[in-house]
Amino acid sequence: METQSLVNKGSFWFPEAISTYAHLVDNLYGFVQWISVILLTVLTLWMIYFIIKYRRRKGNEVASGQLTHHLLLEVLWTVIPTVLVMFIFVWGYKDYLTMSAAPSNALPIRVIGQQWAWIFTYPDTGRIETNTLTVPVNTPIKLIMSAKDSYHSFFVPNFRIKRNLVPNRYTTLWFEATKVGAYRLYCAELCGDGHSRMTGAVNVVSKDDYDAFLESGDGLDASVPLDIAGKKVYDQLCAACHSVDGSKMTCPTLLDVYGTKRNFSNSESLVADENYIRESLLEPNKKLVKGFAGIMPSFNGLLKDAQIDALIAYIQTLKSEGN
Ligand code: CUA
Repeated sequence: METQSLVNKGSFWFPEAISTYAHLVDNLYGFVQWISVILLTVLTLWMIYFIIKYRRRKGNEVASGQLTHHLLLEVLWTVIPTVLVMFIFVWGYKDYLTMSAAPSNALPIRVIGQQWAWIFTYPDTGRIETNTLTVPVNTPIKLIMSAKDSYHSFFVPNFRIKRNLVPNRYTTLWFEATKVGAYRLYCAELCGDGHSRMTGAVNVVSKDDYDAFLESGDGLDASVPLDIAGKKVYDQLCAACHSVDGSKMTCPTLLDVYGTKRNFSNSESLVADENYIRESLLEPNKKLVKGFAGIMPSFNGLLKDAQIDALIAYIQTLKSEGN
């Protein structure tokens, strides 16, 4: 099953509406927008008219008496905005309820946000995926979300959904995608220096493809060489913090790690081997490379053994010339 290219169609104002309630958001947004345009136009023209009509000129140089009250005007500028705002409130509140209450048959998927990746855990099989959420089309999905470290925000413009992920509590979100395709997922809460790279995709597939996806195991394609599979895991999970070309990011580069001596601030030095890489994934703070803080989250329970093997195989290929 291929990840399809990301869909970016839509109007001038919005990306294409893909969830069952996206039109609710668009309609209310459109209403508020056009009311604002109309009010701005009418008031501005009215003001210009008065400026011209009552400008200072010969025979009209003295201000008329000070007006302190005008009952009709005051009633109008109180009642009209109040009615308008209450109308928008009731409309918005009804839509908000629709978007808040997930249908009882919704498929629950757990979401964890962490610096800097999305982790999705599927029901029944317990399958775990990173950064790409795969869901069946025309099926209500309920996301049960929490954060590991700082705030994150799950934002899919095509679905018109955005909600914060908060450490130590759950927030929920539901949607029903109406069209097969891949749609961009963003983190919309500044969550550290990898924030802008905390992106992903929601892959909406047919129900058959979804069943096949659930059964396809550890996510590794047996026909792909192990180090290439490892690069895929790296791209999804590690690239936000670790470079592979020696450049300095939040965490140590992975270039020339394998087979070289590593110096730690809280442990004896050693030569990096398979066991060291595995331990760094599962217990990242046990050996901290000198000059770097212990900010990496543990991938214990998130990475399958096959994925760890693939990552090790990939890291072994990362050698600069002469090494
Ligand atoms: Cu996570 Cu911004």
